[in-house]
Amino acid sequence: MLLKGKKIVLGVTGSIAAYKSALIVRALIKEGAEVKVIMTAAAKDFISPLTLSTLSKHPVLIDIFREDTWSNHVMLGRWADIMLVAPLSCNTLAKMTAGLCDNLLLAVYLSATCPVMLAPAMDEDMWKHPSTHRNLQTLAADGNIIVPVTNGELASGLFGEGRMAEPETIISSLVQQFKSAGRLSGKKALVTAGPTYEHIDPVRFIGNHSSGKMGVAIARELLQCGAAVTLVLGPVPGTFVLDGLNVINVQTAEEMYNACHSVFEETDITVMAAAVADYTPVAVAPEKIKKKEESWQVALQKTPDILKSLGQKKTGRQVLAGFALETTNERENALAKLQQKNADIIVLNSLRDSGAGFGKDTNKVTVFDRNGGEKHFDLKSKAAVAKDIVDYIIEYIHV
Ligand code: CTP
Repeated sequence: MLLKGKKIVLGVTGSIAAYKSALIVRALIKEGAEVKVIMTAAAKDFISPLTLSTLSKHPVLIDIFREDTWSNHVMLGRWADIMLVAPLSCNTLAKMTAGLCDNLLLAVYLSATCPVMLAPAMDEDMWKHPSTHRNLQTLAADGNIIVPVTNGELASGLFGEGRMAEPETIISSLVQQFKSAGRLSGKKALVTAGPTYEHIDPVRFIGNHSSGKMGVAIARELLQCGAAVTLVLGPVPGTFVLDGLNVINVQTAEEMYNACHSVFEETDITVMAAAVADYTPVAVAPEKIKKKEESWQVALQKTPDILKSLGQKKTGRQVLAGFALETTNERENALAKLQQKNADIIVLNSLRDSGAGFGKDTNKVTVFDRNGGEKHFDLKSKAAVAKDIVDYIIEYIHV
């Protein structure tokens, strides 16, 4: 029994794929899980609550209030080891993204302290709508685990993308999630992400196009594996609030250096994914610089190399991973960085691969380690790349 003793809240929403939720409940019970089902009102049009209550051996919950009793959504969200929403309809997807709370399922989602796994299901045209992608990206960025849709026959009779993943795939994602969850428990991790802004005067800075997405995805993956994570984050849009994540917001390379050194000693795993500015103005003008001169130069000096400084401090029990962003002699330069910065692992990010790099949602990396290990990965979503990198680190430290 792969899920023995696991407590699972299953949310079922209004989609034709709701009939498969019966198969999901049956499989979960067979694997030893305890299941409580919550349905939206629309889901009842697709599958009967009686079927799901019989299979789950618990009453199915639909309303926040029923007569004079109140469903304690906070306690349900705390009871569960994981909340699975399968199928996730377009409507509930949009409501979750907006943080709406007009039914019990949404109230449990908003108050859940456990990980949340979402298995969307919709017709291809709805699936391909930009708002669906925007919403899913937001939910992934909020820390939810998304089980990808598949290709096949849809309720409309069309063939295409949008089918909910098969119950077996969903169950194996859950099993995988529980396996990952404890792998780094008790470990402390430090991740840097985003650009740094080096101030020229009160309104101008030198920066770069880093979106922070890769580093944030790594922080999230480390969290999902059970580590306590500190994310030192350069200036990027949005805020990141995730359970167990300690975010230190910084602007400049110097601030990033100080933040990293303040926590490094107690960290077990460090991943430096930030695109730190290599140079900073020698002086910051106290007032806005006026455009008096025809031409103008800013004197720059090197910023501290944070990765290198941590490499000098590192003890034998700590693992230190850096990134190398290269456009020429990629392998050679990446291996040189591994040595020069005394890192254990270097992730080579090639800007020559279309679809990889700054601002993109996908990335293609090669990982090298100081024992001569080398692994090439395909172009994947940044969340999938983060998983590959964290798996590589876990294998490296033999957790
Ligand atoms: N890095 C750092 N501090 C800096 C510059 C870079 O910690 N001041 C880290 C990055 O976070 C990354 C690694 O060093 O993990 C390599 O960054 P990269 O920009 O590829 O290399 P640089 O060291 O800046 O060298 P170059 O620009 O000459 O390639």
